[in-house]
Amino acid sequence: MMKLEDSHYGVNIRRYFESDGEEVLRNFIESFSCPKNPDIEHFLKHNAIEFTKKQQSVTYLVLSKETPGLLMGYFALTVKPLKIGVKDIPSNTWRRKIERVARFNEETQTYSAAGYLIAQLGKNFTGGANERITGKELLNIALDTVYDIQDMAGGMIAFLDAENNNSLTEFYTHNGFHLISDINSPREEMLQFYRMI
Ligand SMILES: CC(C)(COP(=O)(O)OP(=O)(O)OC[C@H]1O[C@@H](n2cnc3c(N)ncnc32)[C@H](O)[C@@H]1OP(=O)(O)O)[C@@H](O)C(=O)NCCC(=O)NCCS
Repeated sequence: MMKLEDSHYGVNIRRYFESDGEEVLRNFIESFSCPKNPDIEHFLKHNAIEFTKKQQSVTYLVLSKETPGLLMGYFALTVKPLKIGVKDIPSNTWRRKIERVARFNEETQTYSAAGYLIAQLGKNFTGGANERITGKELLNIALDTVYDIQDMAGGMIAFLDAENNNSLTEFYTHNGFHLISDINSPREEMLQFYRMI
């Protein structure tokens, strides 16, 4: 839910699918660049609309309230299964919550559950927009959207895949995410992080 004091807000791109919105959406997407992570730019430019239409994931633009029409970044959400090893649960509180929504495999000592996947998250590096929003603010807008879905459908886990580098590991661990030390990453060089919501 958008709070009055927020300087940025998320908009589901479906809002632009109606007749005269497509042009506005195309202009926003054109204005996005992310040299630090070409996959993030590629997804917005080539997959976001199609995936949203097909219900594969839903993309949200993050827009500035102060400067209407300025794209600050974007994120995409979907639901997906994940596995969490016993050794990757940092506290009993987390374990108790996971037990409520997950199935435990004795043999592999892993929990299987469904979670909300933050499938994409990136600031817009065009024209210095990235200097006007912090990663934390962007992530909080994504998490606020997840909380809205949680309010309607339940669920207790949010997770994401990130490239294996110190900047991203630091960013996600500072924001309450915990590393899942092995398993289920889509590519070997990726890491997976999760947190309770
Ligand atoms: C991840 C992100 C939201 C964090 O925002 P932030 O906390 O405000 O941090 P900054 O943008 O200031 O970046 C902090 C540092 O991380 C580095 N960094 C950011 N994304 C990186 C990436 N994908 N790979 C390597 N380094 C990265 C920056 O270069 C910067 O390094 P520096 O301090 O040496 O200059 C933002 O950096 C971003 O949009 N990155 C590109 C997209 C991306 O990689 N998203 C994560 C997908 S899992």
